[in-house]
Amino acid sequence: MSRATSTPGGKPPLYKIVMLGDSGVGKTSLVARLTNPDRPLNHDISATMGIEFDTQMLDTPQGKVKAQIWDTAGQERFARVLLPTYFRKAKGVILVYDITNAKSFESLSERWMAQLNDHSNADDLAKLLVGNKSDLESSREVSAEKASAFCQEYGMEFLETSAKSGDNVLAAFEKLIGIVHDRALNATKSKGGAKASLANNNKSEPEEDVVKLEEDGAAGSGDANACGC
Ligand code: GTP
Repeated sequence: MSRATSTPGGKPPLYKIVMLGDSGVGKTSLVARLTNPDRPLNHDISATMGIEFDTQMLDTPQGKVKAQIWDTAGQERFARVLLPTYFRKAKGVILVYDITNAKSFESLSERWMAQLNDHSNADDLAKLLVGNKSDLESSREVSAEKASAFCQEYGMEFLETSAKSGDNVLAAFEKLIGIVHDRALNATKSKGGAKASLANNNKSEPEEDVVKLEEDGAAGSGDANACGC
């Protein structure tokens, strides 16, 4: 039986995922913590102004996959123009708010969910809610219960993270990419099933038992063309 962990050429599949949320919630810091776990958090970090992405190999229960993580600009004037590019060919989205900033949580339903629906087929995107800055417990403005209720409403999972301490950062990215990978495997299996039943009805059609994964492009790093974006 073939194990659906990589493309036929042996390369891990590449999935584009997008970070969304208000300016200052810690999107850039979360990506930086994931890709450079030992580097201290940079508090003088400047606001993201355009398109930046990093690629990172991640583990899932079904094997290694490569995530191309797009760090988006939270500031309205940049985000509005760039949203279609952010969402093009994306397979997953991490919605980030700051647990010490109630406004950043309210923006999820007031702004970011609407943007998701306007610019993508939201049902096709795997979604994860992340409450960042969990190290600042004494300044908390958003309870975990409130965030969980939001997740139930929109059908997504939830984790609290700290880009400062590193708490749950890897877990958050692995959780989302695991959901994305599962969805791709299931889609491939059902395509395979449809082909198999066609083959049974038409003996001239060869039956395929090779599991092919959807791959956006070559697994290159830092190249906007790698995923056809
Ligand atoms: P935009 O690029 O404007 O959309 O902002 P962003 O969401 O990428 O936020 P960024 O990563 O730039 O972080 C904003 C500020 O919050 C910086 O000063 C970070 O050092 C700080 N910060 C980010 N994550 C954490 C965290 O987990 N804990 C604490 N204490 N500070 C954090």
